[in-house]
Amino acid sequence: MKKNIAIFISGRGSNMEAIAEQTRNGILRDVCNVAVVFSNRPSAEGLKTAGAFGVPTECIPSAGKEREAFDREVLERMKFYRPDYIVLAGYMRLLSPRFVRAYRRRIINIHPADSRFYQGLEGYAWAFRENLPRTCITVHYVDEGMDTGEIIEQRELDIRGMESLEEVERAGLALEHRMYSEVLKKVIERDSKNV
Ligand code: GAR
Repeated sequence: MKKNIAIFISGRGSNMEAIAEQTRNGILRDVCNVAVVFSNRPSAEGLKTAGAFGVPTECIPSAGKEREAFDREVLERMKFYRPDYIVLAGYMRLLSPRFVRAYRRRIINIHPADSRFYQGLEGYAWAFRENLPRTCITVHYVDEGMDTGEIIEQRELDIRGMESLEEVERAGLALEHRMYSEVLKKVIERDSKNV
């Protein structure tokens, strides 16, 4: 049985788009449906992209709201879509303990760096600035911390010789786009076998 996923974004939504494409014509076709794309920012470009894709979209602005109260609203809204998984794709907000409990081991995030060494925003800028030979893109379960949950899979990106941050980001995002759908497929299929 195909699972429902809700994809949470705050901005561009390129990972969301890559996943949505894979559910339509690719490796996620028999694995999951995108039940909804949710954003905490009305101006998130990805909302338009999702709409054009024919995927339902929802937005609850988080600006100025207290975390617990905001997440309660989001949880309430999600009841309508009944997602089996919450897939964070550039969702720039910490989740409250209540939210994490509601979807324990069913919230997944992608982070552009090795989450054991770097958390938060601008992971590519960090790797580039520090002159690292490689960055390690991480897909992990989400807990109450920022980019701290159990690691599911990591893939290395060799950034030696790359001359600008834009070049690093371009290569990194291309890897993220492939990797995220592949890891989601593994997780969902593994969970489905174990029930
Ligand atoms: C991606 O690079 C993702 O790894 C990163 O935000 C970007 C979102 O791009 N996430 C984090 O930094 C989480 N700490 P997108 O909106 O085009 O998918």
